[in-house]
Amino acid sequence: MSDDGIGTVGAATAAVSAVDVWKVYGSGEAQVTALAGITTRFEKGRFTAIMGPSGSGKSTLMHCLAGLDTVSRGMIHIGETPLTGMNDTQLTKLRRSKIGFIFQQFNLLPTLTAEENMLLPLSIAGRKADPAWFETIVTTVGLKDRLHHRPTQLSGGQQQRVACARALLARPDVIFADEPTGNLDSRAGADVLAFLRNSVHDHGQTIIMVTHDPVAASYADHVVFLADGRMVDELSAPTADAVLDKLKHLDLPENQPDTEPVR
Ligand SMILES: Nc1ncnc2c1ncn2[C@@H]1O[C@H](COP(=O)(O)OP(=O)(O)O)[C@@H](O)[C@H]1O
Ligand SMILES: [Mg+2]
Repeated sequence: MSDDGIGTVGAATAAVSAVDVWKVYGSGEAQVTALAGITTRFEKGRFTAIMGPSGSGKSTLMHCLAGLDTVSRGMIHIGETPLTGMNDTQLTKLRRSKIGFIFQQFNLLPTLTAEENMLLPLSIAGRKADPAWFETIVTTVGLKDRLHHRPTQLSGGQQQRVACARALLARPDVIFADEPTGNLDSRAGADVLAFLRNSVHDHGQTIIMVTHDPVAASYADHVVFLADGRMVDELSAPTADAVLDKLKHLDLPENQPDTEPVR
C-alpha cells in the first residue's frame, strides 16, 4: 500500500488515477491549456466514458492517462505505478504490459491477417496467447471465419472487432478507447459497444472510453464530463437521455444566459 494520498488508503487501488493534471501546449500567444487540473480515479472492472464537447480535452486526457503523452503538471498512476517521471523506454514497456488501445481509425497493419494483427502486441512483448482465451475472444467477437482475411477484406465493424480482440488478448490492466465507434454505422457500433460492455461484465476488464456520442456513453457504468479541460460533472448508470441532458447543461460559455434572468 502506498500513502500517496490518491485513494489507496482505505479503498482498493484505482485502475488509473489522476491528481491535479495539467497539460499546456505551446507557449506565448499560441499557448493552449488543454487540461486544467484534473483529479479523478477510474475504478477497476468498470466501464467509464469520458464525454465533453469537441476541444474539451478528452483525447489529451486519454493520451496522458495512457502514457502516450506527458503532463505539464500533476500525477498519473496506472494501478500503483506512477507514470509521471518515466522516460520513453519505461513508458513503452508499461504500455506493452498493462495497457490496451482501441482507436477510431482501427490502426490495423494492412499486410497482416486479422489473426496476425490480434497477436501482434503479444508477440512484440515476447508473450504467447493463451489458446483458450484466444478461442473465447475470437468467438465472442464473431471473427472465427475471418481470421485469415486482411483488413481491406473486412468491413469497418469487423476491423474494429479485430482491434478489440487485439486489445483484450493481452488481458491488459486497462483498455483505452478513443471514439471506437466514430467510423462505424450504428449497427456495427452497437456490436462493438456490446462487446466492450460484456468484456467488463463477464471478464472484469477495465475500460476507459472517450466518446461524444450519448448512445455510446450509455453502454458505460459511469460517465465523466469535461469542459474546457476541467472535469465538470459525472453520472452513474447512464442512459442516453440522461447523458444528453447533462451535456446540455454543462458549464459552458454557450450555455450561459446572455443576460441576467428577468425576475
Ligand atoms: N498537439 C497539440 N498542440 C496544440 N494544441 C493542441 C494539441 N492537441 C490538442 N490541442 C488543443 O487542446 C485542446 C483539447 O484538445 P483535445 O484533447 O483533442 O480535445 P477533444 O478530444 O475533447 O476534442 C484543444 O483546444 C486543442 O486544439
Ligand atoms: Mg478527441
